[in-house]
Amino acid sequence: MKKIDNITINKKDLKKEIELYGWVSRKRNLGGLIFIDLRDRSGIIQLVIKPDNTYYELATSLKNESVIRVIGKVNLREKANPNLKTGEIEIEVKTLELINPSIDLPFEINDNTTALEDTRLKYRYLDLRRQTIKDKIITRSKIMSSARDYLEKNGFIEIETPILCKSTPEGARDYLVPSRVNKGEFYALPQSPQIFKQLLMVADFEKYYQIAKCFRDEDLRADRQPEFTQIDVEMSFVNQEDVMNICEGLIANIFKKVKNIEIKLPLRKMKYDDAIRDYGTDKPDLRFDMMIKDITNIFKDTDITFIKDIINNEGIVNVIVVKDKAQEYSRKDIDKLTEYVKKYKANGLAFLKYVDEVFTGSLAKNLTDKEKELLVSNLDLNNNDLLLIVSGDYNNVKTSLGALRNKLGHELGLIDDAHYELLWVTDFPVFEYSELEDRYIACHHPFTMPREEDIDKLLTDKKKCYAKAYDIVINGYEAGGGSIRIHDEKVQQLMFEALGLTKEEVNNKFGFLIDAFKYGTPPHGGFALGLDRLVMLLTNTTNIRDVIAFPKTASASCLMSDAPNDVSDDQLKDLGIKIINK
Ligand code: AMO
Repeated sequence: MKKIDNITINKKDLKKEIELYGWVSRKRNLGGLIFIDLRDRSGIIQLVIKPDNTYYELATSLKNESVIRVIGKVNLREKANPNLKTGEIEIEVKTLELINPSIDLPFEINDNTTALEDTRLKYRYLDLRRQTIKDKIITRSKIMSSARDYLEKNGFIEIETPILCKSTPEGARDYLVPSRVNKGEFYALPQSPQIFKQLLMVADFEKYYQIAKCFRDEDLRADRQPEFTQIDVEMSFVNQEDVMNICEGLIANIFKKVKNIEIKLPLRKMKYDDAIRDYGTDKPDLRFDMMIKDITNIFKDTDITFIKDIINNEGIVNVIVVKDKAQEYSRKDIDKLTEYVKKYKANGLAFLKYVDEVFTGSLAKNLTDKEKELLVSNLDLNNNDLLLIVSGDYNNVKTSLGALRNKLGHELGLIDDAHYELLWVTDFPVFEYSELEDRYIACHHPFTMPREEDIDKLLTDKKKCYAKAYDIVINGYEAGGGSIRIHDEKVQQLMFEALGLTKEEVNNKFGFLIDAFKYGTPPHGGFALGLDRLVMLLTNTTNIRDVIAFPKTASASCLMSDAPNDVSDDQLKDLGIKIINK
């Protein structure tokens, strides 16, 4: 069988007889002529079957999505269809063969389907026939091959690491796999190849990469899957700049090859603390302005009691200015925004409207003339500007205004979807405080190198310790991240101590890595890009399921195969497992 792609047929083939294979995408009967859109992976071509054709009856009975073979003559169309690559020609069918019929479809296979996502996921093999999904999967393949191409040209070698392993240090919940041979014991699926890639540096592979499957049992969001893929890289004898250069070169190469977009390098860098201060997030979307401004000072002598109390308790007052929108926002709209910021632990949302040089709004009555003047000059206010103000604890104020900024950016159409803004966020804190565990945990992972000047603060001043860690952010998404690793045993011990890990815990969890580091460890560092997120960004979708051939739902199940599912008692017995709670 030598199949040719539909879209390779064009006017140069006029009058030729050709053989085509594909699916019946659409069928119409116009004045006795049957028109079939024949679809294959490459696209659509139009077939025509005349009433006197031997295969006319067969053509009439064909159901959509059946697989057929035709032999026919290439003719010029009476009226060209500019929307199709093959729009100037059509195939006058001579022979038609039904290779495999389709039964009635659960939903129509077209780009604008109204089918529910659950239905589409149950019949994912049909959903994948839709061009918009197929294109995304093809883009994914192009991204992988251009990543491999770039990395291999730069001397990296691809090495696979185990899937059945010991818990890795990314900090999400593990997926566990029971061992039959060692009853009562479990493997963990890797949250990333982190430990193995560091061991490969000890093993002198110097430049490693892998397109690696990772598994994390965490709450799912629109940009998270329990099973996802990383482009994972590690390098020896490097500093932070070297690793970042390779990473941004890799991204630029992908953008160029896949989208023909030129990314200007080096990328902009922003420190973590500055990102939080100005955008309320460590993944700022720089496609629009509307930065968060601090106006605590303007209110230092305020008569507004609740703000006075907040400032006296070391709180802050911050604002985002929505340009030229004051009159568009009703009280009700602002109430909705208030509910929204409360989800991010804001105490509330105050507002001011600046129209015809007069302030109105929830704080207006108690503003002094001086405060008004300072607001206008410090915030560069113009007529019809809307001020949305949150006051309180630093983190809550920043996080809630950051979320509000993103929401408004989208709602007000301030974002050009065809535009990409990339940046590095650097100097992450070494530690973050976990309310859940009531202790400091590693912000990245425990092998991340602190800045030299912060090493002696690891035990004494955790809040002021920053790491040689960096994230690459694209259009408000964390597309990847990495760090320089600790290769000095003493610093590593200090780090474990700072994290409150006992010697026993360390040995139990990472003993083999610590042992390996005793045999001559090169300075090393690396990064991992979230492949799924890159595909999302390059195919302009906000739904991660669109870019994975067989994705999981928000409750981590596969609607098509029904995984996860019950297993037989015998299987459980083999594993020495009893289900006590379901
Ligand atoms: P990190 O945990 O930051 O780093 O992960 C790297 C990148 O992987 C992507 N990602 C995800 N994508 C989809 N679904 C998920 N559940 C998910 N979780 C993470 C993100 C993220 O930036 N070992 C380190 C890397 C290193 O230090 O070299 C690591 O895994 O795009």
